[in-house]
Amino acid sequence: MTATEQGTRLADQSADAATMLAWFRRMRESEPVSHDEEAGVWHVFRHADVERVLADPGTFSSDFSSFMPAQEDVDRFIKGNLLRKDPPQHRKLRTLVSKAFTPAVVARLAPRIEVIADQLLDAKAGADQLELVADLASPLPVTVIAELLGIPAEDRPMFGRWADSLVAPESQTSFIPNEDRTKAMAVVMREMNAYCLEHIRRRRAAPGQDLVSKLVAAEVDGQRLDDDEIVGFVGLLLLAGHITTTALLTNVVLCLEEFPDVAAALRADPSALPGAIEEVLRFRTPLAPSMRRTTREVQVGEHTVPAGRIVLAWLASANRDERQFTAPDTFDIRRAPNPHLSLGHGIHFCLGAPLARLEVRIAVEKMLGRWSGMAVADGVEYHDARGIVGAKKLPLHLRWA
Ligand code: HEM
Repeated sequence: MTATEQGTRLADQSADAATMLAWFRRMRESEPVSHDEEAGVWHVFRHADVERVLADPGTFSSDFSSFMPAQEDVDRFIKGNLLRKDPPQHRKLRTLVSKAFTPAVVARLAPRIEVIADQLLDAKAGADQLELVADLASPLPVTVIAELLGIPAEDRPMFGRWADSLVAPESQTSFIPNEDRTKAMAVVMREMNAYCLEHIRRRRAAPGQDLVSKLVAAEVDGQRLDDDEIVGFVGLLLLAGHITTTALLTNVVLCLEEFPDVAAALRADPSALPGAIEEVLRFRTPLAPSMRRTTREVQVGEHTVPAGRIVLAWLASANRDERQFTAPDTFDIRRAPNPHLSLGHGIHFCLGAPLARLEVRIAVEKMLGRWSGMAVADGVEYHDARGIVGAKKLPLHLRWA
């Protein structure tokens, strides 16, 4: 199958993770850099090439605003979205938000994450079945982000609804931003922008201990974030920090189901859990591609990619590259080193990585501690693996310890 044939399929239908992995394997061998006319994109499959794309923001830009029709609400949202910014704007935003969103701030969240996870699991105490996404994997990251931002408890359900609509599966599968999608998102963004602006104003007037108060106060070299930039950053936290973390948690459970020895090993030695989470990140890569736009003609592998083209750097393929990993299709929780690219690489490396790792570690510890066994039940539904690898519905049978 050529890239173009596969591209037609990529554009028109959904794909499961196994189909994608088989395609990646073939493409790494036969066409590691390939032009996909139907989808209008270039694909990059090997670890070294993906890393190179992500490491060179001057040539591979993250700014797609030229593809998007102007929309006031979306523009405001994009202003503080550092994921879609290039240097030097990226550096200004990243430095400022990093001042507020520090590893120490994240580490201090641990006791709250424990409480939130306990509350969610208590709601299902004694049940012999639950649906992991609705009952734990989705509300946990949304509640944690809402708390981090100081969103009052009574507003959290609304916040959760926004998070769900911004990360709706249908918004994950079209690689090229288009007008319909932008319009649909603008409606949610308008509501959310208005709410966030009000929240920021309240915090400016009466600062608290939350991240928004810290963002309002953050200053580097005389520069500060304006309200629109903070609104955009809040939106990014919801978008970037929700579905990915949910997917990772479902992927841990799916890996434990596939490799029952690992569940036993983790119960016997919980200190192996961080390594196991890294291997789940590699083995079932939550965000399958990262997207870039070429700013100039550039040679990648044996191909010349023209300026102004969309490049899909397939993290999920790089993570199975036999040139980089010994036995890449073996799930090995003791793999070291494990240079997976699931959290990105270079200037856009995931800002929320410590939080994602912490949330998932706590959630898995709780699950292993409470349940002596869990088994995936009928009715699992998966995301389209061209965008997100993970379950959107994961019913589980439980045995309580
Ligand atoms: C960036 C993955 C969780 C916030 C990224 C990127 C990846 C990624 C691959 C880089 C994208 C690119 O270069 O195009 C993940 C995964 C997660 C996760 C797999 C969970 C397992 C989170 C969480 C937060 C977060 C919990 C915050 C609450 C961000 C931000 C960026 C980012 C702000 C943009 C950084 C920048 O552009 O400088 N993430 N992420 N992520 N992530 Fe995450």
